[in-house]
Amino acid sequence: QWTTSSIVDEQIAKIRDQVGTGRAICALSGGVDSAVAATLVQRAIGDRLTCVFVDHGLLRSGERAQVERDFVAATGVNLVTVDARERFLSALAGVTDPEQKRKIIGREFIEVFEQSARELTAQGDYDFLVQGTLYPDVVESGGGADAANIKSHHNVGGLPEDLRFQLVEPLRALFKDEVRRVGLELGLPETIVHRQPFPGPGLGIRVIGEVTQDRLDTLRAADAIAREELTAAGLDRDIWQCPVVLLADVRSVGVQGDGRTYGHPVVLRPVSSEDAMTADWTRLPYDVLERISTRITNEVAEVNRVTLDVTSKPPGTIEWE
Ligand code: XMP
Repeated sequence: QWTTSSIVDEQIAKIRDQVGTGRAICALSGGVDSAVAATLVQRAIGDRLTCVFVDHGLLRSGERAQVERDFVAATGVNLVTVDARERFLSALAGVTDPEQKRKIIGREFIEVFEQSARELTAQGDYDFLVQGTLYPDVVESGGGADAANIKSHHNVGGLPEDLRFQLVEPLRALFKDEVRRVGLELGLPETIVHRQPFPGPGLGIRVIGEVTQDRLDTLRAADAIAREELTAAGLDRDIWQCPVVLLADVRSVGVQGDGRTYGHPVVLRPVSSEDAMTADWTRLPYDVLERISTRITNEVAEVNRVTLDVTSKPPGTIEWE
């Protein structure tokens, strides 16, 4: 019988078989797939797995802590965090084109990861690379062009020849809902298991215009409020994801207290979807929208206007870039 615990047992046995007495590296993104893949491998080979988490400075509030504290507490995994925030910021300076941003973030990510893989392999033989590839990814990369390829997505492909790892992909036969069930079975926290999708390039593609430290801080603060209120309203499972987008090159006039303001708008982009290929804008309750709007404009000094995106996909995409 195909139960979650039989999937777990079977995958652990397969990993032991593949890796033998070898060592493995896994890049954690903060998302559910890499977390579940890493946990399975850790169960199979223990300390011979090392996870690498790259903080590119484009994460949302609390995400680094979720990996460093919650994930490590739940699994006891060996974790190396690389603080690459400065590096990503300088690489992104002056860049406004969305695809250019993706290319730069993807390239920097691979370079940073490669450097830490080299440091690790200098200490011991790491022959295996763990990836959270799912069944739909396998099918998709075998298929032709589709909506998912319209924007280039990044993961840890493209490592140089001399760092040739064998791939360990324990989720290759699974769909997302099965991965979540496996995650729960393995004792991962709900916050990780039910995390909504978040793009690899992170907040870098949600600051519309050039990405700077100040703009990221503004967006992070607004995003944290929106997420807090959606969670408090019990809406997390009803929404596929809700990007908060900062229109950093747009200003509008407002009035607050005794004074005129000239700040930036943010856009709330709540969507409902089955697979992100198509999406409908989510009809959020007005009182929730009101709380989000009031809090953001009160608590985030640079933002004086909150707007709602009511476009479906198509014709809109979920992300603004
Ligand atoms: P779009 O904007 O194309 O997004 O409707 C569909 C889904 O993909 C996510 N997304 C990305 N994920 N790297 C990623 O890893 C990317 O560059 C990227 N762009 C979009 C988006 O959040 C949504 O879930």
